[in-house]
Amino acid sequence: MTLLVGLFDSGLGGLTVLRQVQRHYPHTPCLYLGDTARVPYGTRSVEDIRAIAAEVVRWLRVEGVGALVMACNTSNALALDVAVAEAGVPVVGLIDSVAAAIDSDRVGVLATTATVASGAYRRSIHAVRPEAVVTEVACPAFVPLIEAGVLSGSELQEAANAYLAPLVEAQVDTVVMGCTHYPLLRELFSRLLPADVRLVDPAEAAVARLGPLLASLGDVPEGEQDATQAQASTRVCVTGCAASFEASALPWLGYRPDVQQVDLRLTADAP
Ligand code: DGL
Repeated sequence: MTLLVGLFDSGLGGLTVLRQVQRHYPHTPCLYLGDTARVPYGTRSVEDIRAIAAEVVRWLRVEGVGALVMACNTSNALALDVAVAEAGVPVVGLIDSVAAAIDSDRVGVLATTATVASGAYRRSIHAVRPEAVVTEVACPAFVPLIEAGVLSGSELQEAANAYLAPLVEAQVDTVVMGCTHYPLLRELFSRLLPADVRLVDPAEAAVARLGPLLASLGDVPEGEQDATQAQASTRVCVTGCAASFEASALPWLGYRPDVQQVDLRLTADAP
């Protein structure tokens, strides 16, 4: 039996999670939904984020996913309960996965405005490290720039200077990239932070949990697996323009996917 794994994000960011799923489990078919018609999520209200998560996860369920990997920290922070209720299948979270990967008490978190306001990372880290000093910084400029294809230049640099300064001041030695768009800025972060600061991508810990979950659900890979197989068995959908997403996805996935535009409202009345 091979399960379909569902992932969703507001746009390109969740592809950093999809890429890791493809790398570690090339036999696993994936369905990725980039909700580009509504990007960004991180500056939306809690009600919006929860309503959107319900709609997207309902669509993924109707499409037949057998497990869900959260590929959006904002939805994870504010609507994990909604995703669990709507999915009806096991859900792997980013935020609860990362806490176990933290081995420091001076932690910085870069995330969207909504994620920081939720306090989800702080709570999750404090649950395993009560003494940890957690410095969280909201970075609202990053997602719009990244979605527009801006991965360098003065505007991005100035935003990064401002967002990372409080982390340098707090002398953190670990920084969680708490938005799935941010791993593409890893080099920029490394340049601005002291050399010994460890950058943590929550997707690594989350994706490591997927293998045991798939095995427990009876999904065991057969035969030789390779990256081509992962690409062939992945379906990428968006709610906005498919052609622009195809072009923008290339540096994130390492190949140009076939992207399909979908209308999530068609599943609104599904059981
Ligand atoms: N990439 C998502 C996250 O991890 C959403 C960012 C956004 O749309 O603001 O939070």
